[in-house]
Order: sequence, then C-alpha cells, then structure tokens
Amino acid sequence: MSGINYSEKIPNNVNLSEDRTLQRALEHWQPNYLQWWQDMGPDGSQNFDVYLRTAVSVDPQGWAQFGHVKMPDYRWGIFLNPAEQDRKIHFGDHMGEAAWQDVPGEHRANLRRIIVTQGDTEPASVEQQRHLGLTAPSQYDLRNLFQVNVEEGRHLWAMVYLLHKYFGRDGREEAEALLERNSGNADNPRILEAFNEKTPDWLSFFMFTYFTDRDGKFQLCALAESAFDPLARTTKFMLTEEAHHMFVGESGVGRVITRTCEMMNQLKTDDVSKLRAAGVIDLPTIQRYINFHFSVTIDLFGADQSSNAATFYSAGLKGRYEEGKRTDDHVLKGNTYKILDVVNGQLVEKEVPMLNALNEVLRDDYITDSKAGVDRWNRLIEKAGIDFRLKVPHKAFHRNIGSLKGVKVSPDGRVVTDHEWNAKVEEWLPTDQDRAYVASLMGRVVEPGKFANWIAPPVMGINRQPVNFDYVRFN
Ligand SMILES: [Fe+2]
Ligand SMILES: [Fe+2]
Repeated sequence: MSGINYSEKIPNNVNLSEDRTLQRALEHWQPNYLQWWQDMGPDGSQNFDVYLRTAVSVDPQGWAQFGHVKMPDYRWGIFLNPAEQDRKIHFGDHMGEAAWQDVPGEHRANLRRIIVTQGDTEPASVEQQRHLGLTAPSQYDLRNLFQVNVEEGRHLWAMVYLLHKYFGRDGREEAEALLERNSGNADNPRILEAFNEKTPDWLSFFMFTYFTDRDGKFQLCALAESAFDPLARTTKFMLTEEAHHMFVGESGVGRVITRTCEMMNQLKTDDVSKLRAAGVIDLPTIQRYINFHFSVTIDLFGADQSSNAATFYSAGLKGRYEEGKRTDDHVLKGNTYKILDVVNGQLVEKEVPMLNALNEVLRDDYITDSKAGVDRWNRLIEKAGIDFRLKVPHKAFHRNIGSLKGVKVSPDGRVVTDHEWNAKVEEWLPTDQDRAYVASLMGRVVEPGKFANWIAPPVMGINRQPVNFDYVRFN
C-alpha cells in the first residue's frame, strides 16, 4: 500500500486505475494543471535540470529519491499515508464512532470549504514566488525554492484528488477554480489575504517559508485529526513534505543573520548605513520583516471567536494541534479559553467558551512554535557577541481579523494612539526604503558554491551533497 505506482500517467498509491471515472477526470485536469504551471509557475525555469527529491513511498524512512529532473517533468501525484486499521473519531460529538471513509451528507458543504481553502493556498504560494528564481543568491537556494514550489504543486494535487473523488461535480468545478484564481489578481484573487501579498525578495521568501509555511503545518496538523479519513491520511503525508519548507525558511533567515553579524564584527559597527553600504541586511530591518510576516500570518487562523470553528470541531471535521496528546474530554462543551479584547483603550483578557475560541487555540500553539526558531536565530547573534535580540511582536500587533482588527498596538503590546502609530510605524514595519534596499541586493548568483554577499553559505548541502554541488543545471 505504501509503494507508489509510477508506471501510470498520474503516480499514486490509491489504486487509481481501479476507478476509471476518477482516473479520467483527473487526467482531464492534469493538462490544465501543467498549463497553469507553465503560465504561473517558476519564471524562466522550464529547461533547468534541478536536483529534486521525489516521493517514492510514504514510509517514514526513505520516501524520497533525489535526482536531476526538469521541473515540468516532475511526477506530481497522489500519495496518502497508509490507512490506520479501525480508526475511530477521537474528538467532538461523534467521538468513538468509526472514522468516515466517505463524506457524510450533512458535512459535505463544510468539508468542501475546508479542502478548497487549504487547496487554494498551495498554488498561491507558487504564484507569489514565481519571479524569485531570477534573483537566487546561489544554486543551493535556487534548488530549495524549486523544491518548495514543486511540493506546493503536489499539495494542490492532494486537495484536488479529494475534491474529484468525494465531491462529484461541485468538486470538479472547485478543482478548476483552483487554477483560475491567482495570487494578487484584482478580479479573481486567492481566498486568504496573506496569499495575495507579494513575495518580492528572498528575505521575504525565507520569512514566508518560516512563518507562513508554519501556518500550513498547523492547519494540516488540525486536518490530520479529521474524522474524514482520506483527509487525515493525505494531510499526514503533506506534513512530511512541509518540514523541509520550514527548514528552508529557518536556515535561510539564520544565514542572513550570520552574514550580517560577521560584517558587524568585521566593521565593528551597528550603524545601519555603514552595514547597508557593506551590502548586508541590518538586524532592525530583519526585525521589521519578522513583524510584518508574523502579524500577517497569524491572521490566517481566523477570528478569535468563531462559530464555524466550533462547528468544525464538534462535527469532527478539524481537530486541535496534537489532539491525541491532550488530556481533556475532547468534547470541550463546558471549557473556556482566554482571548484578547480591547476595553477602554486597554488590552484585556476575556474568558469565552473554548469551542468558539478554537482558532485562537491553534493560533496560540502556532505562536509558541514560531518563537522557538526566533530563539535559535538569537543564539546566532549571541554567539557572534552582538547585543541585539529579535522577537516576535505581540499577537495584537498589526492585526486585521477578529476583535483586534484595526486596533493600533505596538510590537510590545501597548494600545497606542493614531499619532504614536503614525510616528513609529516606520520603526515597526518594513518601509519602502527597506524594501527597496533589500531589492537592490537581489542579483542572480549561479556559479556552484558561490553565494551572494548578503547571505552566508549553509552548513551542509542537500542530501549530503557538498555545498558546491551543481544543484541546478541551466542547459
Ligand atoms: Fe503546502
Ligand atoms: Fe509548504
């Protein structure tokens, strides 16, 4: 079951050939997908041979095979984790009942919406990143970008499979629409706001893969608990791919920091203009990028109070992060949770029914997880002997959804006047000058083993290859 059949037009481990109708429907969608990849995927990369990993089985060990492939020839397919025997629903009103192998009629609309929303983010990020290949700081980084891109493409396949197999005609229409919406398109944008933002430079890319792919991790973890077993199984396998995306982000930002600290020590200065003249990204600018990407990403978890979140949980559609490890009753009817509200110009905690606050529960778990990597970045700065620490902003900073929407809060969590906000916002969020400066550093470095001046080389190559390996052959 865990072996993947690559002899078919659509690689899969779901016995696709036994379901001719589904196979035909997906084979009909496949050329549209490839056309989308051609039009909206990585710019100017069609002919490159890229050292990519491809899934060859879904076993925890050895699922990946590495080799040079032309990206349009990458074998996108449908891979689910093996079924767990007699899996039971382990939270919500249906707790203890058998997990669903099909979609119950009463949950069809909500499940479709959940799958479409998740599916929409996958191609969106490919679109957001499509020009970055033109300014990669090294072959190593270019390869990582493309790896992330092909796997986001595969994540789209994962969701499209569910839509086609379980949602009939509506599902097929939704699958088409996933290729029609485009990131940032004024008439037909992607569903979620953060996926319509630009990813204009590589610092943004690393921040995006650190912060926003981590949102992906938490959403997928919550869906991996689902009573709808095919959704649980497909998201579990997606999570194994997601880990590398966050690694690209964390190590990428870390390497930028390392290079900056080297230059600070070499020039014995923290003067921003001197560091910029030396061509590295000053730490305050990195902090402003963190503030931006963190705040935009935590909005993705939705409103702090949401009756949909309660419905999704009680119905068994979407669990909490690590639901199985929690020791409460997994029904949560009498439980409460603290969310933030603004009363008389102050942030105050307010106790609300936990079921309605499950978006906030997931957001708080995400915040804990994302702080850990920022601590690791700080260790790099500390090791360099530099007295500067990065931190994620307060969760009320720069928010655009729920009860904190539009409230002016400083990164350290004070409600501020419009006057103070306007006076300080350039210290808190990336300015046009910051973005222009970072953009000015972007230039393509393609010689194996060479790196742009603003970023340190990685400690190790990919798949134990040397750092100066030819990760991309340009032909
Ligand atoms: Fe993804
Ligand atoms: Fe990802």
